[in-house]
Amino acid sequence: MKLSRELLNNLIDITSNSAIACYPYIGKKEKILADKAATDVMRNHLNKLNIRGRVVIGEGELDEAPMLYIGEKLGKGNGPEIDIAVDPVEGTNFVANNLPGSMSVLTVAEKGNLLNAPETYMNKIASGNHIPKGALDIDFTVEKNINIYSEITNKKNSEITVCILDRPRHNKIISELKRLNVNIKFITDGDVSGALLVSNKKFNVDIFMGIGGGPEGVIVAAALDSLNCNFQGRFLFKTEVDKKRAKKMGIKELNKKYEIDEIVKGESIFCATGITDGDLMNGVMKRNDNYITETIITYKKSGLELIKKEFTIT
Ligand code: FBP
Repeated sequence: MKLSRELLNNLIDITSNSAIACYPYIGKKEKILADKAATDVMRNHLNKLNIRGRVVIGEGELDEAPMLYIGEKLGKGNGPEIDIAVDPVEGTNFVANNLPGSMSVLTVAEKGNLLNAPETYMNKIASGNHIPKGALDIDFTVEKNINIYSEITNKKNSEITVCILDRPRHNKIISELKRLNVNIKFITDGDVSGALLVSNKKFNVDIFMGIGGGPEGVIVAAALDSLNCNFQGRFLFKTEVDKKRAKKMGIKELNKKYEIDEIVKGESIFCATGITDGDLMNGVMKRNDNYITETIITYKKSGLELIKKEFTIT
């Protein structure tokens, strides 16, 4: 079995260790150093695994990232062939300012099963597994999506909450939501967590929508797929250079709307360890020489699990 429990356990240790590597930088206004520390540790550990891994989502392309760049081969080269999506620090501003919601993230799938996402924006919509597939659509107006959601769930608009990144590019969506009397949960960063909030009623988020990072879209799609939730995304390209890069990566149709099963095929593992405390899990805690971490995982089609572990770092 390619995505074994053993691999899952290794990945939990890896995101835990990369989150711990950020600990000294929490609240130090040093987002680049925090990202570097987490990236070094993540790469180091991944290279010790018995896998033939390839980075499909990384820290950038070869010319802009020395480590964990897209296409980089990882592992000892003697195990299963897997695609790896990395986000050593998701929410670098949160780490820099000691704000809630940062985490260290890894997603893996069998070779060829994860979409290669270019470093560009993506328009996204996500909803929970109580909504039928295809009911909501990024091409519908905000009002149409809200009406459909309201009809399916029997909720009044005033009982619906939409999570969205607080960005000027979303002003139109936000004024529509206000006009419709829908509640809004603004996030300042970290749309992997934001989209994951649709996965359980306890988070009180009905729909996630708006434009965020494309790589983050692919990473969260894997988790949402394991949870039988819904996700759709479309890349957005600003410049001709962006379009060229995307084509080089194999994106043939630039305007394509991706369904979740086109972003992640088959089974996957998603693993995210909290760096600072967040809605989904606590951040790294230090007790004497030990560090306690909390990691949320999805393993194949199982639900969201929270794993607490203790590490002694020498
Ligand atoms: P970083 O961790 O790389 O800083 O990204 C955080 C993030 O908020 C993502 O979660 C999100 O997808 C993206 O940035 C949004 O980009 P922008 O800040 O340009 O709107």
